[in-house]
Amino acid sequence: MNTAMQKPEAVQTLDYPIPSGVYAERVVSVKHYTDRLFSFRITRPRSFRFRSGEFVMIGLPNAEKPVFRAYSIASPNWDEEVEFFSIKVPDGPLTQHLQKIQPGDTVLMRQKSTGTLVNDALTPGKRLYMISTGTGIAPFASLVRDPETYDKFDQLILTHTCRDKAELKYGEELIAATREDPLIGELTGGRLHHFTSTTREESPRMGRITALIENGELFSALGTAPFDPAQDRVMICGSMSMLKDVKTLVEEVGLKEGSNAEPADFVVERAFVG
Ligand code: A2P
Repeated sequence: MNTAMQKPEAVQTLDYPIPSGVYAERVVSVKHYTDRLFSFRITRPRSFRFRSGEFVMIGLPNAEKPVFRAYSIASPNWDEEVEFFSIKVPDGPLTQHLQKIQPGDTVLMRQKSTGTLVNDALTPGKRLYMISTGTGIAPFASLVRDPETYDKFDQLILTHTCRDKAELKYGEELIAATREDPLIGELTGGRLHHFTSTTREESPRMGRITALIENGELFSALGTAPFDPAQDRVMICGSMSMLKDVKTLVEEVGLKEGSNAEPADFVVERAFVG
């Protein structure tokens, strides 16, 4: 995305000193999807390096000791900006303020990123299933735009389940833009699959992802066999109870949990708060 035209150049004067080990970056753009969800992009410091799928702590310069929360980085590691996809919690210590940011405002970002939803934490396989609910799609928005993920897996399957159709829009726009991207687009042909469902609003496919795995609808829609430890790898990100339930399902069929230190068949992001 060429956002050069939108970049405000004015430097904001901050009321509080920037804590050490923290970048102070400018908001480039903000997009509101629903009264619960929005995405935003900030400038990327030259020295900031991360692996696609990792998270970082972000905050606002609105206090001596600002509140920081873990946010998955939604942009890939080659992007010149950093993108996030966030929930809006009316009285959330950070998101009640963060949801009001405008282009030109300052967002604080700790310099060190980390996380388990990275290609390095999985052993090689044929298919990568990325299972998400709500804003849990964010780390996968990074991974589906990273050529390394296509080097490692033949097929990428991104599942996204939300309460209603409007909450699926970020993912729909992401997949459409990725397929047309001059850099990544040609890697996606016949390899990047998007499987969506809603749980609280009538839509072409309804149901929790756990139910759609158990009744086989996920696999029949894709034309694949059920999870197979010999060739399938799984990443899971979203609400706490979903993480637990999907972990149980994949463990039942023999997939083993991996980590950066010991790569294996599936990984879960526990730091994520959706
Ligand atoms: P449901 O509407 O049945 O609660 P949220 O917006 O609350 O984070 O939820 C995002 C999506 O995750 C919703 O569609 C929700 O379904 C679904 N979900 C919540 N808990 C689970 C779970 N334990 N297993 C599978 N899906 C879940």
